[in-house]
Amino acid sequence: MFKVGLVGYGFMGHMHAQCYVATGDAKIEALCDIDPAKRKEAEEKYGCKTYECIDCMLKDADLDIVDVCVPTYLHEEMVVKAAKAGKNIMCEKPMSTTVAACERMIKAANDAGTTLMFGQVIRFWPEYQVVKKIIDSKEYGEVKYILAQRRSAFPTSWENWYADEAKSGGGALDLHIHDIDFINYIFGKPKAVFAQGTPGPNTGINGINTQLIYGDTRRASAEGILHLMPKYPFNMNLLVQLEKATIKLDTGATPTLMVYTEDGGEFAPELPKVEAVSKSTETSGNISDLGGYFLELQYFVNCLKEGKKPEILTPEDAMLAVKVCLAAVESAKAGGKIVEL
Ligand SMILES: NC(=O)c1ccc[n+]([C@@H]2O[C@H](COP(=O)([O-])OP(=O)(O)OC[C@H]3O[C@@H](n4cnc5c(N)ncnc54)[C@H](O)[C@@H]3O)[C@@H](O)[C@H]2O)c1
Repeated sequence: MFKVGLVGYGFMGHMHAQCYVATGDAKIEALCDIDPAKRKEAEEKYGCKTYECIDCMLKDADLDIVDVCVPTYLHEEMVVKAAKAGKNIMCEKPMSTTVAACERMIKAANDAGTTLMFGQVIRFWPEYQVVKKIIDSKEYGEVKYILAQRRSAFPTSWENWYADEAKSGGGALDLHIHDIDFINYIFGKPKAVFAQGTPGPNTGINGINTQLIYGDTRRASAEGILHLMPKYPFNMNLLVQLEKATIKLDTGATPTLMVYTEDGGEFAPELPKVEAVSKSTETSGNISDLGGYFLELQYFVNCLKEGKKPEILTPEDAMLAVKVCLAAVESAKAGGKIVEL
């Protein structure tokens, strides 16, 4: 049983805690959050020890994993401290708001010889996993075009930190990064990007359209909007044009995933069932809502169990996603200039 020390018990901290318990292979041993109400809630739910800072937790608790779910601008501090304490680390996305910070985090984990993974969860999301499998099978030929879209109301958060570009990177880095990472997963590193963005309503670019340039006939385009009206339903969309099929993913449709083939056929591929042990204290055994987050953390725990480094998503992949997003922000802020990578 892996002993997890959770850092930050906000929206994602709650999600991660439930998922670890549901793996059946990990337990919430300790938790730190600066908010006493959050600490009390965690003590009652998980019977864990709680602390007001990561230093106190690392000094006192016996941990195998440190899981970082604090706001993005604090990721580097927590990851480096956990690495120096010799812990395996799972940290939410985006890895950080600068490439230099990403490099320091990778170095800290490499120096310590510990395992480091980031929460680019789309690589584990059931529908996107099926899309990747279909592409990799080569049954329908090569990918010609990808259009990825993600739309959301502005999130509420501790001290409204998402509204401060210096803390979150803005919607371009916070939301758009999911689609940029998925496109990187399929096409690899682009040569350059071109983007247009809408600033506001607070600091940062919270609505952005990015074209990824590869220097050949492949085309990819992504849109991320994080400033829609409060009741707007969160939505993920993906269109993949292959030589002999078109794949359509729309989380607002039923079924969410469809494949249209060259011969006029159409089918809804079977999605992986998220089988979780029924040990979650919050979900009464029904973990399906946690979907991709559960699969992501189960994968991380399985890698540790098997003594393997995560291959589906390396720290370098997470850093590349940050790099491409920062290039898109630079392009958008310069009115759409081409930014080389
Ligand atoms: N993978 C995804 O789909 C996804 C979705 C949402 C958020 N995220 C990421 O997860 C991270 C957390 O976001 P969130 O929405 O949960 O934020 P949140 O505002 O809901 O929670 C942040 C928590 O951190 C605590 N905190 C602040 N400073 C701290 C410190 N120094 N030590 C300990 N605790 C501290 C706060 O009290 C709060 O409980 C961010 O990096 C965000 O980008 C990822």
